[in-house]
Amino acid sequence: MTGRTRPPSFVRHTTAARVNHWIIGICFVLLVLSGLSMFHPMLYFLSSLFGGGQWTRAAHPWIGVVLTVSYAGLIVQFWRDNQWRRDDLAWMGAIGRVIVNKEEGVPEVPRFNAGQKFVFWSMTLFVPVLFVTGLAIWEIYFAAYTTIEQQRIATLIHSFVAIAAIIVWIIHVYAGIWVRGSMQAMTHGRVTPGWAWRHHRKWLRQLAASDSRGPKPGAQTSSQTDLKGDRR
Ligand code: HEM
Repeated sequence: MTGRTRPPSFVRHTTAARVNHWIIGICFVLLVLSGLSMFHPMLYFLSSLFGGGQWTRAAHPWIGVVLTVSYAGLIVQFWRDNQWRRDDLAWMGAIGRVIVNKEEGVPEVPRFNAGQKFVFWSMTLFVPVLFVTGLAIWEIYFAAYTTIEQQRIATLIHSFVAIAAIIVWIIHVYAGIWVRGSMQAMTHGRVTPGWAWRHHRKWLRQLAASDSRGPKPGAQTSSQTDLKGDRR
């Protein structure tokens, strides 16, 4: 008797990329909760999750430092596949069809679609801005380096950019849950050829082409492709 064969699948995200991504995800949720508790007295009750107001105030910037370092790693891991291409504009033009789940005729998508690239580049702008403005208002360490006027401006920018980042994050999570199979890509790291055919056909063709050419030393793409995957 032979054992059950697993359906074919291949690597979408490496373990390192997934661990890094979830560190960012956890930090982001903690930052949103602690940040909102300091944003308005009505939301102060959220600070009890962190042991009270003082603990929240102390923890929030350190969590921000962890997120910034991790996000720098994510930029290194993902920037190549998030380069803007002319095809992305055509995909954006067909976004209406994507939203209503009628993807026939929509331009083929490489590893990431234009929406995902928008998330990547928005966060690549927002995270450093939040970090720098956060440092400017981290009084315990940096009060001596800024004026009150600069701190006021930094607080304003920090708050507006945080709201923009939360909106982009909500869109990102919604899309991740809405596109069936995407969460699995970020939890288990693998996707089925059917998923790739449906949502990232150009990427699947690239994998197939590199697979038929055979492995070349040092030629593995940033997507760490392994088309043979679990086919045993
Ligand atoms: C905490 C909740 C989060 C969930 C449920 C989530 C979900 C996902 C999923 C499912 C993917 C894989 C998409 C694919 O392979 O096609 C992904 C990729 C990605 N995530 Fe998240 N994520 C979360 C938080 C974040 C945060 C806070 C950031 C940034 C600050 C972020 C940035 C990214 C980036 C840059 C990618 C690569 C794809 C792209 O360029 O958009 N994620 N996420």
